[in-house]
Amino acid sequence: MSTSEARRELTLVGPSPLRGTMHVPGDKGISHRALLLGALARGRSRISNLAPGDDVRRTMHALEQLGVQIRASADECTVRGAGPDALREPAGVIDCGNSGTTMRMLAGVVAGRSFLTVLTGDASLSIRPMARVVDPLRSLGARIDGRDGGRLPPLVVRGGALTGRRVKLGVASGQVKTAILLAALQAEGVTEIVEPAPSRDHTERMLMALGVSLERLDERTVRVEPGEPSPLELDVPGDPSSAAFFAVAACITPGSELVVGDVCLNPTRIGWVDVLQRMGARIHVAESGRRLGEPVGDITAEYSPLTGTTIVPGEGMIDEIPALAVAAAFADGVTEIRDAAELRVKESDRIGTICQELAQMGIAVEPRADGLLIRGGRPRPGQFKSHGDHRIAMAAAVAANAATGESTVRGWSSVAVSYPAFADDLARATASR
Ligand code: S3P
Repeated sequence: MSTSEARRELTLVGPSPLRGTMHVPGDKGISHRALLLGALARGRSRISNLAPGDDVRRTMHALEQLGVQIRASADECTVRGAGPDALREPAGVIDCGNSGTTMRMLAGVVAGRSFLTVLTGDASLSIRPMARVVDPLRSLGARIDGRDGGRLPPLVVRGGALTGRRVKLGVASGQVKTAILLAALQAEGVTEIVEPAPSRDHTERMLMALGVSLERLDERTVRVEPGEPSPLELDVPGDPSSAAFFAVAACITPGSELVVGDVCLNPTRIGWVDVLQRMGARIHVAESGRRLGEPVGDITAEYSPLTGTTIVPGEGMIDEIPALAVAAAFADGVTEIRDAAELRVKESDRIGTICQELAQMGIAVEPRADGLLIRGGRPRPGQFKSHGDHRIAMAAAVAANAATGESTVRGWSSVAVSYPAFADDLARATASR
C-alpha cells in the first residue's frame, strides 16, 4: 500500500486478508453531541477518544467562536460549559466545512440565543438541504434565513425566545431531531418531536443519562422539557459506520478473520450487520457494557461467500450503504437498494457516485431514482475516484483491497473529514498474521 500526499492518491494491491483485533476512531455522531452537550452544561466535561476528523473539529471551533472554552490534547478534550446563557455572538462567520452535522445541530443550539450567527460550509455542504431543520426551528419561533428562502446554506440565525410545541419533522434525521432537541432545551414549555420514521437516538440516550427530563412516547415521538444537561465524562465508543468498512473488507476478502473492538452497538446504527448476515456473512456482535446509555462491544467478521439481498436504509443504516454496495458487488446474484433517496443528498450524490465506481470494476449497476440495482460478480481492480466524499473513498479502498491486482483511489484526502488514518489502519489489519 502507498499513499502519495502530493497526488492525494491511495494505491492498493489485493487481495489482502484482514486479521487480528483492531479499533476504529470514536463515533463521529456521539463526538459532535458530546461537545455540544458539554457546551450547554454548567461545569467541566471530559471527553476521550473523540472522533479525529475535520467534521468534529469544525464543531469544536464553532463552539470556541461562541465563547466556549475547550482544551484538546491527543488523549482528551475538556469543555468548560457555562450554560446556554453564556454563549456569545460570534465575531465572524462560522465555517462548518464539509460537516452537515455541525451546521444542522449548531442551528438548533443558536436558535435559542438572541444574537446573530452565520453558518457556512464548503461547496458540497452548500448544496445540501436545510429546510428540514430551518422549518421546524422557525415553528418554535426562531428567525432563520438562508439561500433560496432558507433551503440552502449559508444559514443566518437570529435566535431568541422559543416556545415549545409539537413539531412534525418532514424527514427522519438524527441531525434534525438533535437540532430541535437542543433548541427545545432552551424553549419555554414542553416540545414533542414526531418523526416520519425512527432515526438514530444518541441524543435522547445522552440527554436522559445527563438528567434532562425526556421521554419517548413511542418509537417516532419524543417529549422533552426545557433544562440543562449535567457535565459529562465520556470515553467515546468506536464508530460503527467506520467499523462497517473493515467488517465488509473482512467479509469479502478470503482468509480474513477480524475483530473490531469497543464499537458503539446502538441498534439504530448496526442494521448493516443484519444485512450482511442475510447475505451469508459470518459476522456477529458481542455486547460488553454500556456507556452514557449506549451499548458497546465487539464486532467479529470473517470471510464467507455472499449472496445478494434487498436493502432498505430504514432498517438502521445509511452511512454504511457505500460499504454494503461493495459487499453486493462481490456477492453472487442481485442486490437491490431501495427507498434510499436520502443517498442523493449526502456528501455526494451517492447513488451516482456508487454507480460510477462499481462500474469501474466491471460490475453492472443500474441507478434508480431512490436506489440502485447491483449485479454481483467478480470485480476487477479499478482506478477509483472519491468524488470528494469520505465514504466513497473508503468503500473504494475496501473494494480495491479485495480485488486481485493493483487499484488506485484518487481524491483520497477526502477521508480526512471522518477517518484520516484509515489507510494506516487498513495496512495494519492486512499486515497482521
Ligand atoms: C447523523 C445522522 C445521519 C448521518 C450523518 C450523521 C447524526 O444524517 O448520515 O452522517 O449524527 O445524527 P441524517 O440526520 O441527515 O439522516
